[in-house]
Amino acid sequence: MKILVTGGAGFIGSHIAETYLEDGHEVTIVDDLSMGSKDNVPAGARFVELDITTDSFSRFVMDERFDAINHHAAHMELRVSVDKPVHDATINILGSLRLLEAARKSDVQHVILASTAAVLGEFTELPATESHPVRPIAPYGVSKRAMELYADYERIVHGMSISVLRYTNVYGPRQNPNGESGVIAIFLEKFLKGAVPTIHGDGSQERDYLHVHDVACANRAALITRAQGIYHVCSDSAASVNDVVSMLRSALGTDAEVVHGPAKAGDPAKTRGSHAAFSALTGWRPSTPLEEGIRATAEWFRQRK
Ligand SMILES: NC(=O)c1ccc[n+]([C@@H]2O[C@H](COP(=O)([O-])OP(=O)(O)OC[C@H]3O[C@@H](n4cnc5c(N)ncnc54)[C@H](O)[C@@H]3O)[C@@H](O)[C@H]2O)c1
Repeated sequence: MKILVTGGAGFIGSHIAETYLEDGHEVTIVDDLSMGSKDNVPAGARFVELDITTDSFSRFVMDERFDAINHHAAHMELRVSVDKPVHDATINILGSLRLLEAARKSDVQHVILASTAAVLGEFTELPATESHPVRPIAPYGVSKRAMELYADYERIVHGMSISVLRYTNVYGPRQNPNGESGVIAIFLEKFLKGAVPTIHGDGSQERDYLHVHDVACANRAALITRAQGIYHVCSDSAASVNDVVSMLRSALGTDAEVVHGPAKAGDPAKTRGSHAAFSALTGWRPSTPLEEGIRATAEWFRQRK
């Protein structure tokens, strides 16, 4: 198949592009390099530098007539979305809408959209299934929810074939350690530089961590099965930040220090998702235990230095 991966010069998109190439697909990556890097573009993929919010991008999609589109380009810094909601909405809502419209007009057979558990807001049920209330509490979650609603509209009214995958906390090689989220990448970078990472709060807050290889396999499964609708793609397990720190220390063979700072306002105590619906439909399930994934990620960061 001829597949477009937007955001493929970034963390998750580059792993998905790699998986599709392994499967023998022809892969084109579109990225504006605002956060990504050409170094992440896998060998064998065609790279086109374009901003998804522009007319040139719409024209490009229509001219190329892709068989499938995997959409991972996004603005994803939650706190920046609070300060600059228009910037966030321009990329995540208008860019995604532009992509959906161009995909429909050029008869793309299947579209996969990356969403986030941030659309849920506070987790009131654990593990959260797809019937969990959706009440985003930051502009980033609102813009991703708007994208999901446009996808519903395109699917229901225009009969488009669309999978929306909501991820929890993804980690692994190539994650940007300079972002605001991604505790594993941020702490690895600090430990390897001899800097002291700060844990916000007492470190007991629990998150559902999913290795990027498992995410790429979920995207492969969504394409093969043409999964329709919204699905949680997560590990359905939870580890505290303190647990993560001890796994990182053991992976790096260090007892390096961490400090505790004030808890972040609005930081939930626990997040955990259920992938039961997606697993039942596609047969996908996460296969990387956290400790093993952290060890491999630590090795990648170590070698990169
Ligand atoms: N990393 C996570 O834990 C996580 C969790 C839930 C959802 N997601 C979603 O997964 C997707 C990928 O996230 P990631 O962690 O790989 O982030 P990333 O920043 O590494 O990748 C996003 C890519 O999109 C590109 N981009 C941004 N704006 C663009 C624009 N206007 N035009 C073209 N390209 C643009 C960036 O340059 C970057 O390469 C995003 O949609 C994000 O919302 C990520």
